[in-house]
Amino acid sequence: MKPEFVDRGRELAWLEERFRSGGAELLVIYGRRRLGKTELLKRFLRSKRCIYFLVSRTSLRDNVESLKKKIAEFTGKRLYERLQVRGLGELLTYLAEEVERPCLVIDEFGYLVELTAGCSPTSRPRGTRSCRGGASF
Ligand SMILES: Nc1ncnc2c1ncn2[C@@H]1O[C@H](COP(=O)(O)OP(=O)(O)O)[C@@H](O)[C@H]1O
Ligand SMILES: [Mg+2]
Repeated sequence: MKPEFVDRGRELAWLEERFRSGGAELLVIYGRRRLGKTELLKRFLRSKRCIYFLVSRTSLRDNVESLKKKIAEFTGKRLYERLQVRGLGELLTYLAEEVERPCLVIDEFGYLVELTAGCSPTSRPRGTRSCRGGASF
């Protein structure tokens, strides 16, 4: 049997408040693994028109491609799937121009930082944990 859902009323109310603020918001939700971050966001998103984007650890290119698909679905404009962009930053600029006050949830954001810094499991030399350092996109 699935355990009962632990009440996240306060967190949901806070997300709701930020959602309705009318301004630009950047919310960072962090905490140890299996704490319930994804579940909280999915509950919040049930009643919202937002894009939920789960980052994959494969490559930045893969992530750009899958976010393009998400944006195409969200806007109903297939053109986004074929859009040529230099990276995620540029893609997000298009989204901001296309949709007024877009709501985008990026789950596992840390993977993007890893990929940008060149320290993803697939790109770093075998047996090392080093990264190039510096992350931006
Ligand atoms: N509020 C909650 N009450 C009960 N179980 C929860 C709650 N939030 C998450 N869980 C369960 O805990 C586990 C981890 O949740 P998840 O959202 O994936 O964590 P995180 O994203 O922080 O790693 C999942 O099995 C999920 O179903
Ligand atoms: Mg999660």
